[in-house]
Amino acid sequence: MNKLKIHDVSVVYPAAQGGDPVTALNEVNLTIEQGDLVVALGASGCGKTTLLNLIAGFIRPTDGYLTLGDSRIEGYPRVAVGLDIGDEVTGPGADRGVVFQKHALLPWLNVIENTEFGLKLQGVDKQERRERAAKFLKLVGLEDFHQHKIYQLSGGMQQRVGIARALTNDPQMLLLDEPLGALDALTRESLQELLLDVWRETHKMMFFITHDVDEALLLATRLIVMSPRPGRITHEFELNFNQQFLETRNARQVKSSPEFIAMREKILAIIHGDEIAA
Ligand SMILES: Nc1ncnc2c1ncn2[C@@H]1O[C@H](COP(=O)(O)OP(=O)(O)OP(=O)(O)O)[C@@H](O)[C@H]1O
Ligand SMILES: [Mg+2]
Repeated sequence: MNKLKIHDVSVVYPAAQGGDPVTALNEVNLTIEQGDLVVALGASGCGKTTLLNLIAGFIRPTDGYLTLGDSRIEGYPRVAVGLDIGDEVTGPGADRGVVFQKHALLPWLNVIENTEFGLKLQGVDKQERRERAAKFLKLVGLEDFHQHKIYQLSGGMQQRVGIARALTNDPQMLLLDEPLGALDALTRESLQELLLDVWRETHKMMFFITHDVDEALLLATRLIVMSPRPGRITHEFELNFNQQFLETRNARQVKSSPEFIAMREKILAIIHGDEIAA
């Protein structure tokens, strides 16, 4: 069974000119298992993106280490030989798909070419990569838009291409950094539903960052709340509002339940308390 483990990880960014070093994360521990949809919530600057970048292998920890299955995620710069525990060492990899806040699609390619791009880099032959890309474009509701250019799509459609592209590589884990932050409320809600469908269908591990408390509560199987300076995980909750959402398909109904409202108040109190203390 796949499992991502973060072991006592700290990240200190070097001092910028005239400033002090920034401790972005301090002794963070987290385990994400198959089927977990972990949502990270916290004020701006508390280290959410830093945590995602570590998992993605874009950066390496100052202290501690990460493992995915039996492999150690070492991050850039890539190290070629095994470390003390002798595990395989990996940087970024197709086993972790990333969806960014603003889509990172290639404007000179059309929708299906963007979606299959990772497979092309891996040398997968054209027919197979077309089939796999088409399968995930269908899953995100874009089966009729294969030939469209990126600029011909709405923001929500562009994010759906980003999600399909990440899924097409068949990653073990999907990492999403505020993927819905720039969308209007209605589109956002429909993509929340889409992501939950994808999660239920693929059973992939997901790590999802948001500023939005309602979104966090609606999506998470596990919610982690982070606080800044230094960034750490201060609270963790097991939730099941996403099951209610998948059953009822009615976000407003779920959000108006007494349990949801009470949990929202609890989380807001934690976040505001942290802000005052910081
Ligand atoms: N490359 C970097 N060099 C120096 N400091 C950095 C770098 N990246 C982030 N930081 C600092 O580390 C801290 C955490 O940043 P990070 O981007 O992880 O926060 P975040 O929780 O994702 O914030 P936001 O919600 O605004 O996206 C911040 O104080 C930020 O200024
Ligand atoms: Mg961020």
